Parts: sequence; structure tokens; C-alpha cells
Amino acid sequence: MPDYDIVIRGGRLVTAAEVFDADLAIKDGTIAAIGRDLGPGREEIDATGKLLMPGGIDPHCHIEEVSQDGTVQEESFETGSRAALAGGTTSFICFKPQWRGKSLADSAPDYETRAARSLADYSFHQIITDPTPEALAEEIPALAARGIRSLKVFLTYDPLRLTDGEFLKVLARARQLGMLVTVHCENYDAIAWQQEALLAAGLTDPVQHAWARPPLVEREATVRAMALAEFVDQPLQIFHVSAGEVAEEIARAKGRGQKVWAETCTHYLTHTIEDLERPDFEGAKFVCSPALRDRGEADRLWDAIRAGTIDIVSSDHCGFSFATAKKDPGASSYGQGAAVVRPDGTPAFNAIPNGAPGIENRMTVLFSEGVSKGRIDLQTFVRLTSANAAERYGLGGRKGTLMPGADADIVLWDPEMEQTITIGEMHHAIDYTPWEGYRAKGWPVMTLRRGEIVMRDGAVLAEPGSGSFLARGPYAAIEPRGVFTNGFDNTRPDIPASR
Ligand code: URP
Ligand code: ZN
Ligand code: ZN
Repeated sequence: MPDYDIVIRGGRLVTAAEVFDADLAIKDGTIAAIGRDLGPGREEIDATGKLLMPGGIDPHCHIEEVSQDGTVQEESFETGSRAALAGGTTSFICFKPQWRGKSLADSAPDYETRAARSLADYSFHQIITDPTPEALAEEIPALAARGIRSLKVFLTYDPLRLTDGEFLKVLARARQLGMLVTVHCENYDAIAWQQEALLAAGLTDPVQHAWARPPLVEREATVRAMALAEFVDQPLQIFHVSAGEVAEEIARAKGRGQKVWAETCTHYLTHTIEDLERPDFEGAKFVCSPALRDRGEADRLWDAIRAGTIDIVSSDHCGFSFATAKKDPGASSYGQGAAVVRPDGTPAFNAIPNGAPGIENRMTVLFSEGVSKGRIDLQTFVRLTSANAAERYGLGGRKGTLMPGADADIVLWDPEMEQTITIGEMHHAIDYTPWEGYRAKGWPVMTLRRGEIVMRDGAVLAEPGSGSFLARGPYAAIEPRGVFTNGFDNTRPDIPASR
């Protein structure tokens, strides 16, 4: 009679804190033991020469979002989560929409049913586009009670952006309820003003997307978002930092003791504004926001990673196929301004749906660029890809670690294996990958999700619907500091958040 369901022997374990050689045993979906001379498993896996790391957590991806006009993102929960598992990611957090003018309940009411098709474990950030008194008083508390503990606000995009006053209401309510606020920082009016100038000058190419939203519009909005969060004493997660000057402001706020954290995304470490200049409209594949930056900016992001200013790398997976949606100005909420169509039928830069696919490539590209090229060590890789996201989003102890009692979410990684990324091998639904032709060193060869082998040598074995919703309870990492300007608690429960 075997002692365990699976025993993985001979591998090198990597956690956020250490790297050590040990065997690992799994029983009933969790890690049962780590050590030497473990008893037999029903299945024995030889991991000689391989790394064992926590399954990735991608805390920022857009999957099967449903827009108010009924448009559904092409990347379904089935395809997106299959891609995640293939790339070593076992959990992700995506975005539950709120349509402006609608309650949370009446916005994409089938979204959770769609998500139940996932092959990977998942949770949601709730997008807030309309913080009505009802949403603040009733619907947001009900979300927290159901384990959805993070809200997402946008400071730009026409159908999504909040005013500063609306943002303050969300921050205050989140503080009262013990929820984390995540934010997309870009200055809406500055972008709109610059876009009009560019369009009036007849400049409509994909590269002008970056001209319309230079780092300073991101920096201004980041400073403003952090100041408003400080005003309310509410912890804040800054999404997709793309430039060193933004990271510098975040480091300053951290230095003042503010509870503010930041992620960047894989594409800001590998791609530049030059990709937006690719001919034949191919630059549209790289239209995302914040925009890709000048060569050299990635080095500043790596510095911010090594300094701990940026401590998560997400994919911001938001796929639009090049043959279809990228050429359709009405395809997404992720655009800004009137949809200008050019004489050849392609949209002007402002109407190209923003976003690129990356959930499958996030860990391989980061390993290759980070660990294989000597920019970061293995523990930092684990912190960036899983451990910090687990702590930040209320999954600590359960995900993002290798220790007895934790979910057996494990990726077996061959650090020497070289593989060329190409669309023919991708599992996502989108018709391109930004890393086409990229030669990666280090590759996931097996993924286990809660003790089940869900990917072996590139073949995804999990069934649709086998992923679980991850309910998240209250957690200490996002407790406010209790520091208010003039000592006046502007979030006191006796003062309505919707005032
Ligand atoms: O271009 C991007 N990032 N698209 C997804 C939406 C967002 O801003 O996160
Ligand atoms: Zn964003
Ligand atoms: Zn995003």
C-alpha cells in the first residue's frame, strides 16, 4: 500500500526563501511531506536535474471579458487556462466586469458560469466603473463575503475610468471592508488631448499609441493614485508599471512607509517602442497600455525588481487576434476616443484594442531573461511569479509555496532546456504571440495542480471545469496603517462612503 499519491524524487526545490535538494510527497491534493527517504508513492516521478517550484500565480489577466455591447473576448476560460497550465501557471486572477450604469449583479451576469470552465484555479478582481451608493453599501460587501477581496479601478479608457472623487469612494469603502484596491494609472485627459493633436496632424500609425501616452502620463497618474490612497490610508497595488520614472515614484512612497506595491509585465522587459513600428500594421500586435517604451527602460525595470520596488511580474494577458479584433475598432473597451478608420480600413492607433497575450509565456520568458541571463536568482523568480502574488492577494500558505499543507501546485522546470516560442505550439486562442521566434532557456516540463498532473511535456491533460474558484478571506498583508492626515479618519463607518 503506497504512503502517498505521488512522490517526486531527486529534484531541487525552490521557494521564495531557499533552494535545497529534497524529495516531495503529495497526498489528497496537498503537499504531505518534504525530505529524504520518503515512503513509496502510487506514482513515482524522477526529477533529477529539474527544479521544483510553486505553480505560477498570474494575478493580472483578462479572460473572456464581456463588454456592455455584448462583445466577448476571444480568449475563453478554457483556452486561457489551458495556456496557463502549459506555461507552468496553476492559478490566475482575472477581472469581473462592471458596466457603467449597471449594478455589479447586472453586469456580465454569466461571468462566473463562464469561469467555471477553467482548467486552472482562479479568482476575480471586481472592476468598479460606477461606485453607486448601492454598489458601495451592499454589493461590494457581499463580494468580500464571497471571497472576492480585490477591486480594480481604471484612471483611463472611455467606458471604464473613474474620476478622482469616485476613486476616493472606492478606496474608502475598500478600507472599511478589508479589500485591496488595484489600479491602472494613466492620465485620461492628457492622453485625450495628445491624441487629438496627433490625429489632427494626420499621425495615425500604431507607434503613435506610444506618443499619445508617454511615461509622464503614467507617472502623473501613479503619483496621484498613491496620494489619494495615502489620504484614505488604503493599501494600493499599482498595475503594469512600464517605466523607471514611475518605479522611482513608487520607491519614494514606499520609503515614506506607504503600503503601496507594484507589478510590471513580461512584455515591458523584452519589447520596445520599435515593435510598434513593425510594418504592415504588425505594430498593432504590440499596442497595449501603458505603451511599450524606449530601449533602455527595461534595464530600469530590472533595477526596480532587484530593489524590491516591483515585486510581481504578471502577464496582463489581454488577447485580440491580429487577423480580426486588432483590426476592428469596435472590438474592445480598451481603447480611447472616437474610432477613426484609415483609408486602408485599419483603425487609427487610438482605436486599436489594447492588449497582448502572455499567460503561457510569462514564466518561460521571465526565467530566460531573468535567471538564465543572470539578472535575478531563483528565489526572486519564485517571488515574482507566485509567492508575492499569494501574499498580496490572500492566498498565502495555500498557494505560492512548497511546504506541507499547501496545495500541491508545482511546476517541474528544466533549467537547461532550450525551446523556441512559436504560435503553432501555443495553447491560447489568439493568433499570435509577442515572443514569436524567441529562444528561451529554461522550460516547464510538468505542471501539477492540487496534486494532479495537468501538463506533461507540453500536453495539457486537465479537464475543462477542473479548476477551482479561490475564495479569499481577510488577511493581514493589506491591513491599513492607521495613519491619517491631521489624524481625522475620513473612512469612519458613521460617515457614508458614498457622500
Ligand atoms: O493594454 C492592456 N493593458 N490591456 C488590458 C487592459 C488593461 O489596461 O489592463
Ligand atoms: Zn490596465
Ligand atoms: Zn490589464
